[in-house]
Amino acid sequence: MSALFEIHNLAKHNWDNGDQASKYIFSQLSAEITEPERIALIGASGQGKSTLLRILALLDTPDEGDLLLDGASYKNTNVRLWRMGVSYVAQQAVMLPGSVEDNLRMVSKLHGLAYDSVLAAQLLKQLGLDYLDLGKQAADCSGGEKQRISLIRSLLLRPRILLLDEITASLDINSTQKVEELLMDWHLKEETLLIWVTHDLEQARRISNRTWVMGRGELQDHSSDSFFAEPVAVLAQKFIQPVKGSL
Ligand SMILES: Nc1ncnc2c1ncn2[C@@H]1O[C@H](COP(=O)(O)OP(=O)(O)OP(=O)(O)O)[C@@H](O)[C@H]1O
Ligand SMILES: [Mg+2]
Repeated sequence: MSALFEIHNLAKHNWDNGDQASKYIFSQLSAEITEPERIALIGASGQGKSTLLRILALLDTPDEGDLLLDGASYKNTNVRLWRMGVSYVAQQAVMLPGSVEDNLRMVSKLHGLAYDSVLAAQLLKQLGLDYLDLGKQAADCSGGEKQRISLIRSLLLRPRILLLDEITASLDINSTQKVEELLMDWHLKEETLLIWVTHDLEQARRISNRTWVMGRGELQDHSSDSFFAEPVAVLAQKFIQPVKGSL
């Protein structure tokens, strides 16, 4: 049986051709995910975490390597179908023109699916957004509201793989807790594979069973139990602070 998701020798060239710069942002990245796990992706700023997630969702193209979803290469898969299965929730939530409801309906429309208004209402409530007027212009929502709307937009697709890019960065503690609870619950019920970028190591510990550390163009894979055996403050010094000699 093929793995759920495979990354084979993935590489992305660096735009910067300066003397010091490496040819690659990252290269020879490989990973095999056989079960719907919860992966925390951590690493200092500029190491390529967002670039990697965008490539996994085919919003950007790899320069080398392959990606396989259920054993099928992205090279032989229709991009729209791939994005139905692998959904990226951006670091900077981008709202489409129109109302909040237009935004929620848009993904179903795009993929020719029926809009599940009951699920949308339930998710809005669970994320503390039930006060929101759905007729409000999405562009007028706050940063934290936009982040949760864009998360709901992705959940409505029921993707196999959910790529979460610092999605609680502009949320207060209370809303962050709601997002974490919802996603842990969703993961259990829907068996969705989560790959979640965060700079908050306490959050990484709470939400993951596996930790990927990105730095110096490489990806290290740890079980979260063994990774978080060390105190978070020590790990932050080692892995989150910009490392001398890195990008
Ligand atoms: N071809 C490329 N595609 C994307 N980014 C590139 C490329 N070439 C160079 N870069 C640079 O590589 C870095 C990767 O940025 P990216 O947003 O992926 O990092 P990140 O790990 O998500 O950082 P942060 O934690 O700050 O969000 C940026 O400095 C970007 O300008
Ligand atoms: Mg990023």
